[in-house]
Amino acid sequence: MPQPSSARLHEFRIVSNDKIADGIFSLVIEAPALAAAIKPGQFMNFEVPGNAQSLLRIPLSYARADAEAGTVEVWYAVVGEGTERLSRMRPGDTSTVLGPGGHGWSVPADCSRVLLVGGGIGVPPLVPLAEQLAHDGIAFDVCIGAKTASTCAGVSSFEALGAASVAVATDDGTQGHHGFVTDLAADALGQTSYDYVATCGPGVMMQKVAQAAGEAEVYCEASLERMMSCGFGACSTCNVETTEGMKGACMCGPVFDASKVVVW
Ligand SMILES: Cc1cc2nc3c(=O)[nH]c(=O)nc-3n(C[C@H](O)[C@H](O)[C@H](O)COP(=O)(O)OP(=O)(O)OC[C@H]3O[C@@H](n4cnc5c(N)ncnc54)[C@H](O)[C@@H]3O)c2cc1C
Ligand code: FES
Repeated sequence: MPQPSSARLHEFRIVSNDKIADGIFSLVIEAPALAAAIKPGQFMNFEVPGNAQSLLRIPLSYARADAEAGTVEVWYAVVGEGTERLSRMRPGDTSTVLGPGGHGWSVPADCSRVLLVGGGIGVPPLVPLAEQLAHDGIAFDVCIGAKTASTCAGVSSFEALGAASVAVATDDGTQGHHGFVTDLAADALGQTSYDYVATCGPGVMMQKVAQAAGEAEVYCEASLERMMSCGFGACSTCNVETTEGMKGACMCGPVFDASKVVVW
């Protein structure tokens, strides 16, 4: 059974909102209580002002939280009207954010090596996980996939956190391996012994990663994206079909045991 949501409404002020790759922005907000509370893999629901007809908040994962500075950083892709409006907000602008939502990654106890596999804008929730692994002295390798080099974000962040390796795949071969990130993940799982795999990205990518992890008998978790209306368990728009029945991604996820996901 899902627990009551730990999410609270926080006012925030924008510190910066800058383009970091083609169509991808880094947003840093000042929201001290949220920065102190949020855990790797959890998400927030942003109210973006400027369209009275748009009632829905925008769910976004976070890439970094600095409890001392009271700031939270997200990386988002501009894909539609809401994220386009968000990209036009400027430092000093204010709004509200509901969070932290859901539950995040559950790294198994006695874990000694981890594989992180991110695709496209699925990379951000893996960054705070890498930070936690680095803090706990757990070695990790990273595979990142992107359509093309100009949309590839996160390599320097994982390198700065001390990743044992960071491998990149691009669909058009403009950076790293010419092909899918799932090729890199399958190679890594064939060559190295892992205790845990964490993945976030397009459904078809996560499904393949989960399959390769299953074949290698490594526990795998996946962070799933679903349309979300309320973000706190009241509307059922975010259901994920699992082997244990329908589960709401906003309360039971967004991170799921990959072996239990039926529909990606
Ligand atoms: C838990 C969670 C964490 C997320 N984290 C991030 C993140 O860190 N960075 C990031 O860029 N995006 C993230 N997303 C996706 C992000 O919420 C959507 O891209 C955003 O809501 C689109 O809003 P829009 O108004 O710009 O687009 P719309 O005009 O509403 O839609 C444009 C396109 O995006 C798709 N879309 C809309 N909402 C979602 C959604 N909730 N999930 C998946 N696809 C959607 C639509 O089907 C459509 O194809 C996350 C989603 C969830 C559920
Ligand atoms: S978004 Fe409403 S129940 Fe999950």
